[in-house]
Amino acid sequence: MIYSSDYNRLALLGIDVRGVSLFDTTLRDGEQAPGIALSMDDKVRMASALGDLGVDVIEAGFAASGDTEKEIIKKIAGMGIPSAVCSLARSVKKDIDAVIDCDLGYVHTFLATSDIHLEYKLKMTREEVKARAVDAIEYARSHGLRVQFSCEDATRTDLNFLKEMHIAVQDAGAETINVPDTVGVIYPTAMTYLITELRKVTKVPMAVHCHNDMGLAVANSLAAVAAGAKQVHVCVNGLGERTGNAALEEVALGLYANFGIEAVDLSKIGNTSRLISRITGYPIAYNKPIVGRNAFAHESGIHVHGVLNNAATYEAFKPELVGVDRHIVLGKHSGAHSVKDRLNALKVKFPDERMPELLARIKELAVGGKEIDDAELMVVADHLLWMRGEEDAVKLEEFAVFTGKGVTATATVTVTVDGERRTSSNTGIGPVDASIKAIRCAVNDKITLEEYKLNAITGGSDSLCEVTVVIKGAYDCSRLSVGKAVGLDIVATSVDATMEAINRDYIRGRR
Ligand code: KIV
Ligand code: ZN
Repeated sequence: MIYSSDYNRLALLGIDVRGVSLFDTTLRDGEQAPGIALSMDDKVRMASALGDLGVDVIEAGFAASGDTEKEIIKKIAGMGIPSAVCSLARSVKKDIDAVIDCDLGYVHTFLATSDIHLEYKLKMTREEVKARAVDAIEYARSHGLRVQFSCEDATRTDLNFLKEMHIAVQDAGAETINVPDTVGVIYPTAMTYLITELRKVTKVPMAVHCHNDMGLAVANSLAAVAAGAKQVHVCVNGLGERTGNAALEEVALGLYANFGIEAVDLSKIGNTSRLISRITGYPIAYNKPIVGRNAFAHESGIHVHGVLNNAATYEAFKPELVGVDRHIVLGKHSGAHSVKDRLNALKVKFPDERMPELLARIKELAVGGKEIDDAELMVVADHLLWMRGEEDAVKLEEFAVFTGKGVTATATVTVTVDGERRTSSNTGIGPVDASIKAIRCAVNDKITLEEYKLNAITGGSDSLCEVTVVIKGAYDCSRLSVGKAVGLDIVATSVDATMEAINRDYIRGRR
């Protein structure tokens, strides 16, 4: 089930969207993103994932860019991937020969058509451009290649000349004509207008290739489909030159939600996106639609309450549709519903009447944006139940520690014992050692530290830590006393655990 606005349905009524497919250019335009350099092994794994996903065409690279690239493309061409495999080529024979060398049956040729490119880059007239494009296509066709042709910078090309180009290249044998928005400047309704105009002269299917310079790549691609384009060029995770190309996952969902088209196996989107992020080293933004960490994360109390009753209140579709997970995040916006839900899912029993305390503790820990994960929640809940719930007899009033590299860690504490104020300083191997020694001096120097245990719950540098301290000799010399604390700061948590052990010892010693 996927939700779309009823207004979309009304606006898109009667549009013929049969035969719309995806042309994936992650291995070519995606690789042009700054900092991405893919090895043979990388590209083979990516191509295999794209084939499994079910894209119609994989643009495997730019064959003429070198021998290594040719080897990689040849390897991908021979992998038996269910998608068609093609290479990009400029409209020159040597580029098309490089594609033929890769044993490919499909070439994507291009030539710029906008006046700005003609004047400053190609230094050619419109007639020369048209003739070169036609020659290249005829050459490719004479070698048995299927041809897709792109008028580079189409969206800044004079409409009459663009129409002339479409007529010329389809007559020369291009089976698909792509309309690139090379610098991402068109607006969705203008895209609809442009495709509608071009359809008047274009008999072969049209594709679109939208860049995201203005954040409109996906919107422009969908607008083109609504106007009759039959293929959309995409890159996984929106990779591509500069700000990237239309994101595969967003276009795929847009096609499904608005037109009912399943252009790929949607359930494989999550895994494919993660694989390509790992291989390219480009992280997925937290707030990236469909595959970002936040796409199905709910934190605020009102939203979580809604989602737990019926996920559709705050989700356009279920995460399993695209192979990702929903998670209820516990943080400073959480409400009791989220906490209870997580505890139930974890099968942790926690008394309802103490829920406000637990919620307050979570909010306290979440100050500064920290999210509390399941393992941390269990430790916090457990610790709260373990606490005595009485006022401390030995109170920590002040605590400061000075540490660094090449300096002796020094701690100063002020405590009150039965109302009497005592201040002490001490040094130690590190800040924890110095702090515990300073507390001992202030409270009672007969205290011995029998055991100290530190556990970083999730292992991350922002993990909650749990400290257990076992002491002897504060007030009850015969037995050991245990103190535990949970917090974000190792030193402060160690101090809290030590104070808890001392207070437990005090209670027994004074009984
Ligand atoms: O952005 C562009 O115009 C391209 C062409 C090669 C299609 O990538
Ligand atoms: Zn491009």
